Amino acid sequence: MKLLCILPVLLLACVEPAASSLRRYDSIFSFGDSFADTGNDIVVFAENSLVTPAAELPYGMTFFGRPTGRNSNGRLIIDFIAEKLEVPFVPPYLTHNGSFRRGANFAVAGATALDASFFRDIPGVGQFVLNSSSSVQLRWFDSLKPSLCSPEQACRCFFKKSLFFMGEIGFNDYSFAVFGMNITQLRSIVPDVVKTVSGAIEVVIKQGARTVVVPGIPPLGCTPPNLFFFPSPDPAGYENNTGCLKDLNEIAVHHNSLLQESLKNVRRNHPNARVVYADFFTPVIEMVESPDKFGLIQDVLRACLTGPVFFRPLKRE
Ligand SMILES: *[C@@H]1O[C@H](CO)[C@@H](O)[C@H](O)[C@H]1NC(C)=O
Ligand SMILES: *[C@@H]1O[C@H](CO)[C@@H](O)[C@H](O)[C@H]1NC(C)=O
Ligand SMILES: *[C@@H]1O[C@H](CO)[C@@H](O)[C@H](O)[C@H]1NC(C)=O
Ligand SMILES: *[C@@H]1O[C@H](CO)[C@@H](O)[C@H](O)[C@H]1NC(C)=O
Repeated sequence: MKLLCILPVLLLACVEPAASSLRRYDSIFSFGDSFADTGNDIVVFAENSLVTPAAELPYGMTFFGRPTGRNSNGRLIIDFIAEKLEVPFVPPYLTHNGSFRRGANFAVAGATALDASFFRDIPGVGQFVLNSSSSVQLRWFDSLKPSLCSPEQACRCFFKKSLFFMGEIGFNDYSFAVFGMNITQLRSIVPDVVKTVSGAIEVVIKQGARTVVVPGIPPLGCTPPNLFFFPSPDPAGYENNTGCLKDLNEIAVHHNSLLQESLKNVRRNHPNARVVYADFFTPVIEMVESPDKFGLIQDVLRACLTGPVFFRPLKRE
């Protein structure tokens, strides 16, 4: 008599409740910097005796009606995506007092892909690179995981219906490093930054992520701080169509192109995962080129509420 072993097959199957199967994603897990931070910065900055401007008005005024820690007057890209997918706004891991079964946000304004120690010796900015890099965020994810699902097979089923965002992260690496490096040196760290991002993607995929969105970085040469701190003495240092700094935008283009190359490898290594590149570069160029097409007022390069964070020490009375 032959015994058929069907147990392994049963163990491998994810049982989906009928009600939830209509929805594509039940939860969102997000890693990154101020482009995605929904409130972690308030805690991380306070731990370092700093206060983020995003903790005060006018941040939050047009949508939430109060500052939430988002580096925006209203919602962030991640908020619009959550709304569209009918998932709650992704709760900040460090402040949310409640369940994370519908998602968790590990992004922190000012976060870097590389560890903070890499930037420590850069004069003037080193002390503002906080301990919130991609590896720290992954550690937070690791410590949250047992409360979401166990054992490992249950996690695979759980994360199958989760949308992961890895980034944008990397933008701040260059924004900090540029204070201590010339363009050649800045360009030389791009492979390390990209390798760190793709390493982080592999980590979440190995933990069960099946859909990972990976945004590239926005144009570094168009940010008001970089235009202010690193003006070009030569008019040829600016792009004709945008007025942005050519050499810094080339760093961003280089990063995004290496990142997309490395995503091909990730996809090859993990054929069951969907790894989607999100372009944060082109839309910004389009907005700077033709602000009126987007309902923006003139001088978009001169003032902006989002972008690299500015710090000031926490005043203790
Ligand atoms: C967290 O929520 C619980 C239950 O709602 C409440 O009892 C507790 O006081 C809250 N803790 C904080 C720090 O807000
Ligand atoms: C950074 O944060 C992580 C996770 O919270 C912690 O394990 C680590 O010791 C911290 N590192 C430093 C240098 O503070
Ligand atoms: C950049 O800095 C390095 C190290 O200080 C130096 O060797 C190199 O000549 C510099 N390059 C440019 C283009 O200034
Ligand atoms: C940008 O302007 C310079 C100087 O007017 C001109 O020589 C160059 O051809 C222009 N480049 C483009 C791409 O339009």
